[in-house]
Amino acid sequence: MRDLVAQTRLHTSDLVAPLFVREGISAPHPIMSLPGVMQHTVDSLVQEIVELRDVGVRGVMLFGVPASKDEVGSGAFDPRGIAQVALAKVRAEVGDEMVIIADLCVDEYTSHGHCGILDGHGSVDNDKTLDVYCKIAIAQANAGAHMVAPSGMMDGQVGAIRAALDGAGHSGVAIMAYSAKYASSLYGPFREAVDVNIADGGHRRGYQQDWHNSNEALREVHEDIAQGADIVMIKPALAYLDVISAVRQSVDVPVAAYHVSGEYSMIKAAAQNGWIDHDATAMEHLTAIKRAGADIILTYFARWFAESMNAR
Ligand code: PBG
Repeated sequence: MRDLVAQTRLHTSDLVAPLFVREGISAPHPIMSLPGVMQHTVDSLVQEIVELRDVGVRGVMLFGVPASKDEVGSGAFDPRGIAQVALAKVRAEVGDEMVIIADLCVDEYTSHGHCGILDGHGSVDNDKTLDVYCKIAIAQANAGAHMVAPSGMMDGQVGAIRAALDGAGHSGVAIMAYSAKYASSLYGPFREAVDVNIADGGHRRGYQQDWHNSNEALREVHEDIAQGADIVMIKPALAYLDVISAVRQSVDVPVAAYHVSGEYSMIKAAAQNGWIDHDATAMEHLTAIKRAGADIILTYFARWFAESMNAR
């Protein structure tokens, strides 16, 4: 009877699995702070995606971890860069059976770890960064991405990328915009996953949002939609349910929420200590994100959730 009257139902098809592929390794490499998540080789990535498809997951978000980094993050747009090589292999294997989304940023590829190009005074140069993002978008679309997901929070990034994609004959490639992305402490384990250390003990408060505020999230979301975003994203998820709810009520495009690395790791760590029930907590958290209004949830629990549903 509870099932019959449940107001919120989470489905495997609501979920997108974030995945990491690392250049120059010959076997998958576990990420200590993200139990169960791997830095993949290209081959193990393809295998993982095939298995995700077979359990019913419909989307993946890909992050590349290059063997070497430089000032401008050129590995991010090099046609032979790790993400592009992986995208091409994945697309050849699964075609249109999965939505292949490419995270679009430079922080994994820059020596200083910032999401943009530095201006020589320790700050990020917004407009110079846009030129690089456009090159990345074209490289990712050429390699086979169905959708690009700009995560760097530069002003004007969605409009610039939309124009670049259209100009390169990729008008069918969609944009999932990380629109309201907060300068959160919950990205810690992710930075281990992509080997990022922000230079000089740095932070991203210059371009990510201040978590004291919610009004500017709405402004960011509306600007992104005006610039051509097909899907808008709020990130992280659980500490921002109010933002998810407000955005859902205020826009007519699909709303995504990213249940980030720290949110996942907190459950894993507490469960490993026997302090909370892993399955019940994960289910409660993911359902709450949907109840708040998210149509799409990016989560490291995607495979676990799909397998749990299939086992019922
Ligand atoms: C930056 C990026 C980050 C995440 C996704 N894209 C980290 C950051 O902004 O420092 C975090 C994802 C997670 O924590 O799961 N390109």
